[in-house]
Amino acid sequence: MKIVLLGPPGAGKGTQAKSISNRYSIPHISTGDIFRKNISEGTPLGIEAKGYIDKGQLVPDEVTINMVKDRLTWEDCKNGYLLDGFPRTVAQAEALEGFLADRNEKLDTALSIEVPSSFILERMTGRRVCPSCGASYHVKFNPPTKAGVCDVCGSDIVQRKDDTEETVSERLEVYERQTQPLIDFYNNKNLLSTVDGTKAINEVFESICSILGSVK
Ligand code: AP5
Ligand code: MG
Ligand code: ZN
Repeated sequence: MKIVLLGPPGAGKGTQAKSISNRYSIPHISTGDIFRKNISEGTPLGIEAKGYIDKGQLVPDEVTINMVKDRLTWEDCKNGYLLDGFPRTVAQAEALEGFLADRNEKLDTALSIEVPSSFILERMTGRRVCPSCGASYHVKFNPPTKAGVCDVCGSDIVQRKDDTEETVSERLEVYERQTQPLIDFYNNKNLLSTVDGTKAINEVFESICSILGSVK
């Protein structure tokens, strides 16, 4: 199964991706997570990406596309994958199409998690993430069992640097301008499915499973 997850910042893509990846045994590939890992390791890619991410802007297409194309050739992708945060521009979506077509493969669905912007700020400013394993929590909606500590791996959880009020509003604008057009892009190809992301985390997951159960 090859899935693209769409949705505004804070829609719950990362949260749902962890569960989908476990249920369907496919790797969760988050471009944001890959950039953050490179930033924490101080690689040239991380140094380049940091300037954009801290401002809430997109990393240039060429850098992002090459990074994802490389990742999709790894052995663990041979039975499918779940893309979280990619594509984010029409150019990225076209690059993914070309990559799939070259391999005689196709996407199963682009799943859009729909959440109105009025929900986003509270979700983002309350989010805490695990820098080691990428797990995502919320101080109110999804707290870890022990405050400040990741349930999965025991590391201390932190606030993302781009989860400030100012950067969130820039990210929302960038989303509307550059990523929202992908809803039509995939709809026109009959690949779009949508889920109401305002429900509780487990309810959203159940809706996603029923959609994924019927796409094949
Ligand atoms: P990225 O890391 O992808 O950030 P994003 O798209 O802004 O999305 P988020 O990770 O903020 O939100 P999410 O939907 O994953 O929500 P989550 O599950 O955590 O990208 C970061 C940056 O990297 C970009 O700004 C850009 O600079 C760069 N980048 C990445 N990809 C790129 C690309 N393809 N091209 C160019 N640049 C790129 O949930 C949010 C919070 O809400 C959590 O606290 C969670 O616990 C809570 N929550 C989740 N679901 C629910 C629910 N149903 N009810 C209540 N609370 C919930
Ligand atoms: Mg995320
Ligand atoms: Zn962890």
